[in-house]
Amino acid sequence: MNTKIWLSSPHMGGTEQDYVKEAFEANWIAPLGPNVNGFEKDLETYLGEDKKVACLSSGTAAIHLALVQLGVQINDEVICQTFTFCGSSNPIAYQGATPVFVDSESETWNMCPKQLEIAIEDRIAKGKKPKAIIIVHLYGMPSKIDELLQVASKYKIPVIEDAAEALGSTYKGRKCGTFGDFSILSFNGNKIITTSGGGAMVCNTDEDKIQTVFYATQARDNAPHYEHSKIGYNYRMSNISAGIGRGQMEVLDKHIALRRDMHDFYVDLFKDIKGVEVQKQPSSDFYSNFWLSCILIHENAAFTKTQFQEAMEADNIETRPLWKPMHLQPVCVDNPYYGDGFSESLFVKGLCLPSGSNLTIEEKNRIKHSIASLIK
Ligand SMILES: Cc1ncc(COP(=O)(O)O)c(C=O)c1O
Repeated sequence: MNTKIWLSSPHMGGTEQDYVKEAFEANWIAPLGPNVNGFEKDLETYLGEDKKVACLSSGTAAIHLALVQLGVQINDEVICQTFTFCGSSNPIAYQGATPVFVDSESETWNMCPKQLEIAIEDRIAKGKKPKAIIIVHLYGMPSKIDELLQVASKYKIPVIEDAAEALGSTYKGRKCGTFGDFSILSFNGNKIITTSGGGAMVCNTDEDKIQTVFYATQARDNAPHYEHSKIGYNYRMSNISAGIGRGQMEVLDKHIALRRDMHDFYVDLFKDIKGVEVQKQPSSDFYSNFWLSCILIHENAAFTKTQFQEAMEADNIETRPLWKPMHLQPVCVDNPYYGDGFSESLFVKGLCLPSGSNLTIEEKNRIKHSIASLIK
């Protein structure tokens, strides 16, 4: 059996272990230390816009702390893009609040501004104004940020920007992860850069960063003993993980270029294949890191999605259906949903393909051959 080709596997740059070694030598084996500070600085410099970054144990933890800081409580409602990974919306439930799901539009596959406004109006009419809106740049594709922020500001609802999959993507030249009242990043093992597991909160002010770190370190009041007037969490990033992150920052731009090359590879591969559509950027305003390359297999294609998956699997090549919309998940079936079924059609037709920055020419050839054999 050939070795497995993954959708997206960790790709080390080479210097990560130097930072980890430094941590060992200085005995900074803790959820604080020079690597945490250094990684935060690196991210702040990379994102620009005078943002303040707090490194955390995961992207999910970052969303949770954003909700905590926006005052989301039991029985509140929070709007969330339905076409996303559960890490975007689960923290709403951690707070005892209700996720209200909103569908995507066809150009970016992210939250539809029109459906967002319909949802807000209806929730207000039903007696509850949503406490926050979670927008997502899924697969690295920037959402229609101007339109979404316009709706959010019209109704004065704060925005949490889930840029877990979109580090390095830009919208109108500005980095994703800098648009929200709070924005979040993920460095999980499958992301464009990884710290093995980890995330970050991107804040607008020093005060927000201090509060984030406060909540992420068990909400310890300023006292010589352990004193707590709020409920806190153990969500800070380890200094070992942050060392990996510092090494990864050195290769981030290179890895984005390689992911974009993978996308070009698929555009070329499918250009003459009827009924297969590769996701594309709607205009020059949208610059995707193409964290994952995605295709839609339409009804007029010569093969079905299942046949495509089986052909790839026969050569040990991973594919995965596009994320199942959250409003279809058994755990969320009773949650409010606003949309016209677009994300459902993405789930039916769509697949994610191997997209790593570390795929070799031989591996690309294997992908090419599997697809060629399917067409024959
Ligand atoms: C869109 C999205 N949001 C949130 C998360 C949660 O991030 P983490 O896995 O770091 O908790 C992920 C990824 O895992 C994600 O893809």
